[in-house]
Amino acid sequence: MSSVFDKSFENLVLQLETPGIAVLILNRPRALNALNSATLRELRVALMGLAEDSTVRVVVFTGEGEKAFIAGADIAEMKDLSPGDGVAFAQSGHEVAKLLETMPKPVIAAVNGFALGGGTEMALACDFIIASEKAVFGQPEVGLGIIPGFGGCFRLARAVGLPRAKELIYSGRRVKADEAMAIGLVNHVLPAEGFLKAVIEHARTIAGQSASAVSKAKSLMVEFTEAMGLNTKIDAEAHAFGRLMGSFDQREGMGAFTEKRKPNFQGLTNV
Ligand code: HXC
Repeated sequence: MSSVFDKSFENLVLQLETPGIAVLILNRPRALNALNSATLRELRVALMGLAEDSTVRVVVFTGEGEKAFIAGADIAEMKDLSPGDGVAFAQSGHEVAKLLETMPKPVIAAVNGFALGGGTEMALACDFIIASEKAVFGQPEVGLGIIPGFGGCFRLARAVGLPRAKELIYSGRRVKADEAMAIGLVNHVLPAEGFLKAVIEHARTIAGQSASAVSKAKSLMVEFTEAMGLNTKIDAEAHAFGRLMGSFDQREGMGAFTEKRKPNFQGLTNV
């Protein structure tokens, strides 16, 4: 049977560190590692392979380059999606986030720079986040006329509490590493120099434990925090996201981003 480490990916790099630590690197640095559909498809394949690979005990998920972990979903690709395509796009991101959250081994998000929109959402789906001192988090979606669509509407509140999540999602305000630490979004903040190596050291401590016990603890903790079914939340969020696609504010917000200008939104409408 072929190993996931033998597969070739366009937008991902996969490395195996001993003992049993997989390093999964988002590799689209020219677009600040933004998530397009092709990358989401590759992530799905890579994560399913990592979940099944018995030599892998811990996964470290990070972004290529010094600037970004993931600067969000790809705005260039999203900007002309129909409502139906919006649902499908949100669902494909949810699939990846769900794999991160439920795979039978821990995934550590090593956030090395911008983690905006879908970037913060993917980090939140990991077991926990270790941030470089250069990390910047945020949910800027409402400034694009959309909402978080890869789980931010439920996972951010779980991490930082509902009032803080509401403030961050309504304002789109960015959060630097020190504030992220203060509000409980990240577990550690480490120097930018030697960041990935230091995260791998954290992973090593986990990799040295009983993989079965760690896996059982993970599955229980995931189950216990999901009072409302995950699929219900996924469905509700994906459809709410889809309803915004094609709206005036979505086109205006993403058009303004592409044209590098300030958006001129319509005001409250029924979407
Ligand atoms: C597509 C992106 C991108 C994105 C950056 N780029 N973020 N392309 N989608 N999310 C591209 C830029 O267009 C640019 O390409 C290149 O990456 C470098 O970015 P710059 O903007 O020139 O860099 P800088 O001035 O340093 O600003 C960095 C930044 C900014 C603050 C991260 O790029 C930014 O605000 N990006 C968008 C962040 C965002 O809104 N994310 C949320 C997306 S919505 P060119 O070709 O011009 O060099 C989302 C929804 C998730 O994530 C749910 C969906 C269902």
